[in-house]
Amino acid sequence: RLPRPYETPLPIPRTLAPVGRGATDVYEITQQKAQLDILPGLRTEAWTYGGTFPGPTLVSRSGRRTQVRHRNTLPQPTVVHLHGGHTPADSDGYPLDVVLPADGSITGERALAAMTEGMPGHAGGHHGGAPGVSGMVRGERLHTYPMRQRAATLWYHDHRMSWTGHGVWRGLAGFHLVRDDEEEALPLPKGERELPLMITDRAFEEDGSFRYPLADPRLLTPGVDHAYMDGVLGDVVLVNGAPWPVHRTPRARHRLRLLNASNARPYRLRLEPQPSGGDAFVQIGGDGGLLARPVRHDELHIGTGERFDVVVDFARWKPGTLVRMVNTLAEGGAHEVMAFEIAGGTVRDDSAVPGTLSRVERLDPAKAVVTREFRFRQGGDGWTINDHGYLPGRALARPRLGQTEIWRFTTSLHHPVHVHLDHFQVLSRNNGAPGPYDAGWKDTVDLPPTESVEVAVRFTDYGGTYMLHCHNLEHEDMAMMADFVVE
Ligand code: C2O
Ligand code: CU
Repeated sequence: RLPRPYETPLPIPRTLAPVGRGATDVYEITQQKAQLDILPGLRTEAWTYGGTFPGPTLVSRSGRRTQVRHRNTLPQPTVVHLHGGHTPADSDGYPLDVVLPADGSITGERALAAMTEGMPGHAGGHHGGAPGVSGMVRGERLHTYPMRQRAATLWYHDHRMSWTGHGVWRGLAGFHLVRDDEEEALPLPKGERELPLMITDRAFEEDGSFRYPLADPRLLTPGVDHAYMDGVLGDVVLVNGAPWPVHRTPRARHRLRLLNASNARPYRLRLEPQPSGGDAFVQIGGDGGLLARPVRHDELHIGTGERFDVVVDFARWKPGTLVRMVNTLAEGGAHEVMAFEIAGGTVRDDSAVPGTLSRVERLDPAKAVVTREFRFRQGGDGWTINDHGYLPGRALARPRLGQTEIWRFTTSLHHPVHVHLDHFQVLSRNNGAPGPYDAGWKDTVDLPPTESVEVAVRFTDYGGTYMLHCHNLEHEDMAMMADFVVE
């Protein structure tokens, strides 16, 4: 029942219109079940933002406040996190700050038990006094995003403690773009030549439903079958929710905002055939917006949660060419990602990639007041940071506002490490130079087995409790997360 690759047209998520525009842009999103047409002739029940997967794209202006009212009509509690957002703590999506279903079907006690029971290192019911529990509300929550941050590709997704992998897999993810004057002044490809591309892998049951190996299908106790503790993978790659789609592309430069929103799968993306001369991808930005200068790549390694903003000049291929974007880390269904079918005729292309893109402030490691180490390891039945499974309210670090720190991440296995509140800059990898994919401001850094990365980070504007965690969502759900408190 699977479609053949490169037959389904690439969908572009719709852009959400605000319900109010004044000093603040106000948006409303209803989290709801929807029946999606993903596979031919079958229906897939999804949990969605506003009825679609991906959810609608929000577009904010840097410096202009955005508010999003999220209403939960799903059968389970949810939490929304704006990934890459420079967000006050009470709107950031702390994993216990759930919105209970509007219909009253689930009590706060039951919601709390479902997040904490059976977890390694957790005795259910002991977190009654934990910070965040008081943030539980019913029906809806208004998130306030001041957007004191530069243009960047952000995304929003579910972040409920112990259930993030399940919620995202069922469809709770969408783009949130921030634009600013600096970026708009550049002659980058725009309009229909700017494509947000959300890459996710999924597995399906015979009837078309999403296959996710919950240990408890009644959704009372968190966790996946033990066989999936490394993370849940799928054999079908969806781009913007469509299986191995194809996009008919004029021979012109296009800006691709690549997001790996998969639960656990990293990709090494490559265009086939390669253009003569190589360097198919010209990277202009990363998680935290524009790079200082473009960086050229034959292949892009993109870990879960990461974004790569690249320009591809499709005039480098002949009309009629099917340019496949493949994943060289996998065989079979997860090898194919999507394709661009090069259209005939000539089109006007005024776009360009300037040699200088942005002024990027360098965080000076010599000014760092402290170096902290975070060790990402396997522990017992789950995953740990500095030998601790996640315990809400236990802070592993207390950085001070405005001070530069060095954070050193070390791993035994493969873990993409994500930090909330502020972006960071990679200083070194394995005590040597940063890697080819480490340029610019990042909020997620991919760590292959046994590697270490040092980053410089400085938290600004907002104090309070935030998280760092592995962005392999099953690792995150199995406790590879920690609070830090910005003082
Ligand atoms: Cu994209 Cu804390 O997550
Ligand atoms: Cu991990």
